[in-house]
Parts: sequence; C-alpha cells; structure tokens
Amino acid sequence: MLTKSQARVFFLAGTVFFSAIFILLTIDTLRQVPERQNSEALTASVVRGKHIWDSNNCMGCHTILGEGAYYAPELTRVVERRGAEWIRIFLRDPEAMYPGKRRMVRYGFDEEQITDVIAFLDWIGHVDTNGFPPAPDMAPDVKLTSTAEVQASAARPAYFDTVCIACHAVGGRGGNVGPALDGVAHRMTASELDRWLADPQSVKPGTAMPKLGLADDTRAELVAWLGTLK
Ligand code: HEC
Ligand code: HEC
Repeated sequence: MLTKSQARVFFLAGTVFFSAIFILLTIDTLRQVPERQNSEALTASVVRGKHIWDSNNCMGCHTILGEGAYYAPELTRVVERRGAEWIRIFLRDPEAMYPGKRRMVRYGFDEEQITDVIAFLDWIGHVDTNGFPPAPDMAPDVKLTSTAEVQASAARPAYFDTVCIACHAVGGRGGNVGPALDGVAHRMTASELDRWLADPQSVKPGTAMPKLGLADDTRAELVAWLGTLK
C-alpha cells in the first residue's frame, strides 16, 4: 500500500511526465505542419477553386479531409481516383456519367470554374495526410488498370483509362454501366464506331452512353484502338 504522501508524489510525477510527453508530441506535430500542408503549391486557380467549393456548399454533401457531410463520396483524393478529365465531364453534367440515376447537383459552371475546382481538388489531394483516406475509398466496381499494364498495350489510348473505363470493361477490368468492349470490332465497323463516339444519341436516341465531346484526334485514336479488339 502507498502512504498518502507517496500517492501524492506518484500522482504528481506521473502527471508531469505524461504532460511533458504530450507537449513534446504537440510541438513535433506543429513542426511538421508547414512541410505537410502543400502551401507552396497554392496557385490563384486553387484559391478560386476553394472559394467555389465554399460558396456552393459542396461540404453539405461531401467530406474533404474527413470534414463535411456523409451523403456523397469523400473527395480528398478524387483527382487521383478519377482523373481530371473524368471530373471535368462529370461536373459539366453529372447525369451524363450516370444517366438517370444521380443526385449530384448540376451547377452549370463554366470551363474556367471547372478548371479551378479541379485545381483545388488536385491540390488538396497532395496534402500529406498520413495516408488518409485509405485507398480504395469508393467504387469497388471500377478497377483502374495500373500504369504498367497501360504501357504494355501501347496502342491503348490514355483517354480510355481515364474516362471510358468508368463505364466499360476490357479484359475483365472496368465499370459495368455499359457493355464490355472485348470483341467490339466484330460488332461495329470503324465508321460505326466513329459515329457512335461522336454522338451516341444520334445513333440510338435515349441511350445511356453520354456524348463526351471528344476532340477529333482523340476520337480517331479511340476508333483505331477499338478496331483491334477482336
Ligand atoms: C446535394 C448533394 C451534393 C452537393 C451539394 C455536391 N455534390 Fe458532388 N456528388 C454528390 C453525389 C450524390 C455524388 C455521387 C455521384 C452521384 O450520385 O451523382 C457526387 C459526386 C461528386 C464527384 C465525383 C466523385 C466520385 O468519386 O465519383 C465530384 C468530383 C463532386 N461530386 C464534386 C462536387 C463539388 C465540387 C461540389 C460543389 C461545387 C459538389 N460536388 C456538391 C452530391 C453532391
Ligand atoms: C457514363 C457511362 C459511359 C461512358 C463514360 C462511356 N460509355 Fe460507351 N456505352 C455506355 C452504355 C450504357 C452503352 C450501351 C448503349 C446502348 O446500347 O444503349 C455504351 C456503348 C458503347 C459502345 C457500343 C458497344 C456495343 O457493343 O454495342 C461503344 C463502342 C462504346 N460505348 C465506347 C465507349 C468509349 C470509347 C468511351 C470513352 C470515350 C465510352 N464508351 C464511354 C456507357 C458509357
């Protein structure tokens, strides 16, 4: 048994010891903040994107760095997860990516505002968060191909892996919103593919495939590659 005065010494020494540890760890954390917050990458575009983020109450539905509402996906690493091009198409018209079944607001941002929002999301994705959020944090049905595999099939357009793959699988990898594209060259000719990619609605009114507004050379590259999927 401790005497009363021994107990007091024990209590005081313990309190001082653990308070000191707590203070040292706090100092250590504060020391790390400047190098982890990615502030040197803050451009004017990032700042504008942050204002758009705040003034449109994105956090009313989304979390970022874990803060916000839990209705919609966590967005800290969304640029890494989806790619800038995918997000651009999505923000222009969220429903285009998921026809008929989406709840994300269509804001009607102009292209510059979209660029700013993406710059902000990209910046926040590079803040050192000690690995938060753990990957993968969404969309288990979308398996992005690793860079190594993309390079292995050299002719495969990068655009396919940033946008089309959200909805289409090839070789068992990708989304299942649209049909798998293995063997599509047997089903469609080059000119059919070209017309389809230019404007799916004009070929098949009411189809769930979005009109993606592809640049001519991107479209040509995709058609050439799809033509090899036999
Ligand atoms: C009313 C709720 C709501 C608000 C407000 C909202 N979102 Fe969303 N957002 C969603 C939902 C729900 C999704 C999931 C896809 C879907 O169902 O449309 C989503 C998806 C996204 C995605 C794609 C995420 C992914 O991993 O697929 C991005 C990027 C995004 N939102 C950005 C924003 C930005 C930027 C703002 C503010 C300008 C915003 N959102 C405001 C509901 C919202
Ligand atoms: C938002 C989801 C979505 C995205 C993104 C998307 N597609 Fe589709 N795609 C579909 C759906 C759904 C269909 C089926 C349409 C139908 O039959 O009405 C389809 C059909 C197709 C077809 C016809 C396939 C067949 O066997 O009939 C081709 C080819 C195609 N898509 C290529 C692409 C390419 C290339 C991209 C990227 C540039 C792309 N898609 C992006 C949803 C998508």
